Amino acid sequence: MTYAHILGTGSYLPEKILTNFDLEKMVETTNDWIVERTGIHKRHIAAAHETALTMAEQAARQAMAAANITPADIDLIIIATTTPEKMFPSTACLLQQKLGISGCAAFDLNSTACAGFMYGLSIADQFIRNKTMKHALVIGSEVMSRVVDWNDRTTCVLFGDGAGAVVLGASDKPGILSTHLHADGNYKDVLSLNVGLGKPMDVEQALFIQMTGNQLFKLAVNILGDLFDETLTANRLEKSAVDWLVPHQANIRIILAMAKKLNLPLERVAITLEEQGNTSSASIPLALDKAVRDGRIKRGDMLLLEGFGGGLAWGSALIQY
Ligand SMILES: CC(C)(COP(=O)(O)OP(=O)(O)OC[C@H]1O[C@@H](n2cnc3c(N)ncnc32)[C@H](O)[C@@H]1OP(=O)(O)O)[C@@H](O)C(=O)NCCC(=O)NCCS
Repeated sequence: MTYAHILGTGSYLPEKILTNFDLEKMVETTNDWIVERTGIHKRHIAAAHETALTMAEQAARQAMAAANITPADIDLIIIATTTPEKMFPSTACLLQQKLGISGCAAFDLNSTACAGFMYGLSIADQFIRNKTMKHALVIGSEVMSRVVDWNDRTTCVLFGDGAGAVVLGASDKPGILSTHLHADGNYKDVLSLNVGLGKPMDVEQALFIQMTGNQLFKLAVNILGDLFDETLTANRLEKSAVDWLVPHQANIRIILAMAKKLNLPLERVAITLEEQGNTSSASIPLALDKAVRDGRIKRGDMLLLEGFGGGLAWGSALIQY
């Protein structure tokens, strides 16, 4: 049996930090409101020269170093990003060129939003599992600061920028045990970024994230609860088998509800939300990399990863690290 094993992780965060106190001077909000309702204290904001591509490159190089492989070993590059460098060529193709390689498959997942990393991980897992490919680079990279309306307090306090990456490699040791992907277009208006090229539009309006926060909150809690049940049942495992929850970082109250669902203490949840906000498709690999690098997540631990976002789209993975 061949598994996709996580060989290495990496991440990148821009230097500039925007605190809740900075936001108090920009929109009608308070540090207390943001902390109480979301759990976020600060977020990183990309400088003018930083893009999804430059951040993806940094995270990818770190992940490859941790995996002890070179760019020439990579068979597949997937970049999940809502904020791509261009419509095309894909950010993944641009990264391939920066890494000095050519020929391997490379593409972006642009519209799976905050669930993008889960979709990317699952796609890469299929190729490795069926022995078509040996090494895959899966990256989430986002400059959310460029698609939020900085005059809209209901969204601008939530998001941040950054990139996270994993290198997956074929192994006969258990790695990714299962992945589970879902979507429901009936909820297309709950969270959207309406800019597109195939239809006339009011560009000014379309350029910013639109969100019905409280509806999304309730949907997320229900959807993720079912997703955990599905993931554990598929592997014939009890909740107690999970050592770590590595969740999408949208709201601390959603994360707390998920930890409760799994009977996991908060010390067993990889949380970066306080310092990074919601970095969309980058949030899961960023949280994973932090917990791996500071030694909390150890080889052999059972990890449950979950993500959800615009679409709605959502997904999970159960992984023996
Ligand atoms: C966005 C979110 C934090 C809002 O929290 P909430 O408790 O649901 O709050 P509501 O949206 O009901 O708004 C409550 C009040 O706070 C106000 N408010 C919204 N943003 C505010 C801010 N930044 N500062 C102060 N007040 C704010 C609202 O205008 C509303 O005022 P009103 O009662 O006078 O109308 C929460 O719904 C959430 O996190 N949802 C999920 C979002 C998510 O997961 N997004 C990413 C998915 S990838």
